[in-house]
Amino acid sequence: MERILVTGATGQIGSELTIELRKKYGGENVIAAGHRRKPSEKLVNSGPFEYIDVTDRESVEKVVKKYDINIIYHLAAVLSAIGEEKPQLAWKVNMNGLYNVLEIAREHGLVRVFWPSSMAVFGQEAPRINTPQDAVLIPRTMYGVTKVAGELLCNYYFLRFGLDVRSVRYPGVISSETPPGGGTTDYAVEIFYDAVKNKRYTCFVREDTVLPMMYMPDCTKAAIDLMEADSSRITCRTSYNVTGMSFSAGELTSEIKRYIPEFECEYKPDFRQKIADSWPMSIDDSVAREEWGWNPTYELSVMTKDMIEKLTKRFAEGNL
Ligand code: SER
Repeated sequence: MERILVTGATGQIGSELTIELRKKYGGENVIAAGHRRKPSEKLVNSGPFEYIDVTDRESVEKVVKKYDINIIYHLAAVLSAIGEEKPQLAWKVNMNGLYNVLEIAREHGLVRVFWPSSMAVFGQEAPRINTPQDAVLIPRTMYGVTKVAGELLCNYYFLRFGLDVRSVRYPGVISSETPPGGGTTDYAVEIFYDAVKNKRYTCFVREDTVLPMMYMPDCTKAAIDLMEADSSRITCRTSYNVTGMSFSAGELTSEIKRYIPEFECEYKPDFRQKIADSWPMSIDDSVAREEWGWNPTYELSVMTKDMIEKLTKRFAEGNL
């Protein structure tokens, strides 16, 4: 039986992945763990919640023992923009957190670990269009450095200790439940909130900035599909390229204007532009498609419609 721990459960991906996992495996079998952020009512009411600090091995181990955990989805991390402001913190949380989780998984004989990597593993030396699975990895952000090092560490634990650790390289993730914090692709989420609330947004990347993105239902599907795939189908133990769609900030603005014609977007690039310019514009995820059947559902227009419907409803309820 699955006994699952989700770290970073109060974050953008964790808050929705935990709910999906609870639907599948039962609320009591999926333990949500957060650090500082207060958990939503939905999270607290649908199953157990614990506070842990992933950089403190004992606090993670205590929860693993208490709930007899055999699978960890380790999502707790510092994202790219905060990582550039606080590189030492990014290294500490991202590397020590992953190391602690892998060590606990090894020592306690856990069945499986999921850990998200990112398109931020790529740098300017990699092709930026249809970036292939095996492109050179020379990132220039601390976030990217921790993701490359993390991928190699996961691969090492698989080869050396036989730990069944699985990973995907997420592109920017767009969602309406919990806002992301401190990433470079956050503009593609903020723009929706501001469009619905204020009809205007100041975007921190240029209009022609193209980045790969994914809508949350595809994001949770990628994690669950990969974790449920038969291990014989998984040849990559660093991390798989996955993507949903690619668009520029300007194209996203035009798409939003179809639903909110008075919406206006201003472009004032800041330090995050440089990060965006070092990342892929589109991703080749054919290896994930071939090996474990990765197949995303959402493209730009369907995602935009769904985001606006969800946020408009929350705005009307006074809940945005
Ligand atoms: N969404 C992340 C960020 O912008 C990329 O993995 O930092």
